[in-house]
Amino acid sequence: MPLAAFLVLCCCCCSSSAVLESDYVKYKDPSQTVEDRIDDLLARMTLAEKIGQMTQIERKVATPDVMREFSIGSVLSGGGSVPATRASPQAWVDMVNDIQKGSLSTRLGIPMIYGIDAVHGHNNVYNATIFPHNVGLGVTRDPVLLKKIGEATALEVRATGIPYVFAPCIAVCRDPRWGRCYESYSEDHRIVQMMTEIIPGLQGDIPSNSPKGVPFVGGKGKVAACAKHFVGDGGTTKGINENNTVIDERGLLTVHMPAYLDAIQKGVATVMVSYSSWNGEKMHANRGLVTGFLKKKLGFKGFVISDWEGIDRITSPPHLNYQYSVHAGVSAGIDMVMVPFNYQEFITDLTAQVQNKTVRMSRINDAVRRILRVKFEAGLFESPLADNSLADKVGCREHRELAREAVRKSLVLLKNGKSMEKPLIPLPRRARKILVAGSHADNLGYQCGGWTIEWQGLTGNDLTSGTTILSAIKSTVHPSTQVVYNENPDHGFVSSNNFDYAIVVVGETPYAETAGDSLNLTITEPGPATIESICGAARCVVVVISGRPVVIEPYISKIDALVAAWLPGSEGQGVADLLFGDYGFTGRLARTWFRTVDQLPMNVGDIHYDPLFPVGFGLTTRTVNEADAPADS
Ligand SMILES: *[C@@H]1O[C@H](CO)[C@@H](O)[C@H](O)[C@H]1NC(C)=O
Ligand SMILES: *[C@@H]1O[C@H](CO)[C@@H](O)[C@H](O)[C@H]1NC(C)=O
Ligand SMILES: *[C@@H]1O[C@H](CO)[C@@H](O)[C@H](O)[C@H]1NC(C)=O
Ligand SMILES: *[C@@H]1O[C@H](CO)[C@@H](O)[C@H](O)[C@H]1NC(C)=O
Repeated sequence: MPLAAFLVLCCCCCSSSAVLESDYVKYKDPSQTVEDRIDDLLARMTLAEKIGQMTQIERKVATPDVMREFSIGSVLSGGGSVPATRASPQAWVDMVNDIQKGSLSTRLGIPMIYGIDAVHGHNNVYNATIFPHNVGLGVTRDPVLLKKIGEATALEVRATGIPYVFAPCIAVCRDPRWGRCYESYSEDHRIVQMMTEIIPGLQGDIPSNSPKGVPFVGGKGKVAACAKHFVGDGGTTKGINENNTVIDERGLLTVHMPAYLDAIQKGVATVMVSYSSWNGEKMHANRGLVTGFLKKKLGFKGFVISDWEGIDRITSPPHLNYQYSVHAGVSAGIDMVMVPFNYQEFITDLTAQVQNKTVRMSRINDAVRRILRVKFEAGLFESPLADNSLADKVGCREHRELAREAVRKSLVLLKNGKSMEKPLIPLPRRARKILVAGSHADNLGYQCGGWTIEWQGLTGNDLTSGTTILSAIKSTVHPSTQVVYNENPDHGFVSSNNFDYAIVVVGETPYAETAGDSLNLTITEPGPATIESICGAARCVVVVISGRPVVIEPYISKIDALVAAWLPGSEGQGVADLLFGDYGFTGRLARTWFRTVDQLPMNVGDIHYDPLFPVGFGLTTRTVNEADAPADS
């Protein structure tokens, strides 16, 4: 008997007692297993509803009407895309809920999942805690700290109504000329693997009986994470962003892949595909690695998401072919496409390709199943709407203290006193007169770097709240110490002033992604000139703020003490904590510090390894109590 006829018959003969049962919707019942709920929901969905789930759009186009009309499954904030300048947590929650209400008003009421790049704290959000970028965190080699940072970040993100972050980046940056090198913990995959402990911080601890590869998100204070960018993103030729990673399979599996095994073991909910190619094949079209390796071999059961316009870049001018891109990307195994604007074309093309069987229905079902799995695991069906109860977590004191601790553990002391001289650090707090100089000494935007409020980062001190290195120094020295701040003084000024010592803070100005690719890796002007005019005329500490090792060898003999501070974020006090000996330096390089760019790429373990400072290098200092500090020098 045809199923339809059977159902009709059934309904006729049990109409009165069926009322309650027909109200019962299995996928809405949290007492059912996630897999049973998925089966039930998937069976109810039309093709349009399924393809909508696979579509992620930018918040700027995500009106409640669009969410409803196209059954959109996910929304994101691109870098710097915020509901309003300096939006409060409440404004964020209201925006996310507004979009969500559009989704909840659809026939099946499937909640959308909102994602954002929270890559060093909740970095798009005004007044959030800005943690050091990953390049600094790798130095700490402290997985317990990383887990705490994940926990803090999850709370701040949830405070704005958002349940999903595009983090962590587990790239193994093998060439610092890459503009995203600061998003990588290390050139050594073992350090990157260690740092995946941020995942249980973000998502919660996966239960020990959890089946292999199943995504895990543990409750309202947690977020779904995203390991990115699969795979080989940090291995491109000359560090060119989105370029070609030329390496044999063994190399790919031993250098770039291992951290994905850790991430999956820890229950990572999603994986983002890399813009880059592997031996000439775009990762966004690589079925062998995305479906064959990640899903089948590693058993990953969360969803795979494209990068921003990632499928668009499968083809390039003059042979742009969006239809081919949709086919190649979805067939490779991408489950959710970060469209992010051109959603009508994406939906139209994918729909046509499923209807004429160019894309198999089983592929669509697999994608939707994975997306629903993450949504059920994250509790979105039970609690789709956010509230303001966590608002006070954004930029709270406790999180800022944690970020300050992370800064202290991420700095590396590369030099401390010229030979035959006594060490300069810890600096005396009590001095007659000291100089603070350099483009980065009083610039919160510079010390936070890219991906802070704006995608490319900002300059100045009013982008968000935090402590600059200058203000940290001022509040650390003895009240009797005169602090002279001059961003770029000339030699005469320095020699005529008889400073006890100078602190020079220079480095790279903010950048993100391709805009950060650099073949010269020089300190931004006038940084080198500032070093030249001060060091020599006064004993000097140079603090370098940068997303990677930079050219320093030409100046190093003039410098008395040298500190690599990476991109420390909003808590500049952590820098002063070390300079003045409240805490000792403990950080050890997680990247090779080259002598000249001609040596690149050069990584620890290479046969020809002749760095200025090798991986693992870092001087230590003792902690001093203020009482022990030397009196006037
Ligand atoms: C941002 O932080 C500053 C300093 O902590 C505070 O004065 C201000 O009220 C905060 N603004 C918002 C919108 O939260
Ligand atoms: C790599 O970069 C070069 C130079 O910009 C470009 O010509 C080439 O197409 C890029 N390759 C890939 C795979 O993106
Ligand atoms: C299926 O539809 C797509 C999109 O309209 C089209 O590009 C493709 O040629 C079609 N394939 C077949 C076999 O009809
Ligand atoms: C170094 O490269 C960057 C990025 O390509 C460029 O903006 C800068 O001008 C270069 N600096 C020097 C000194 O050549």
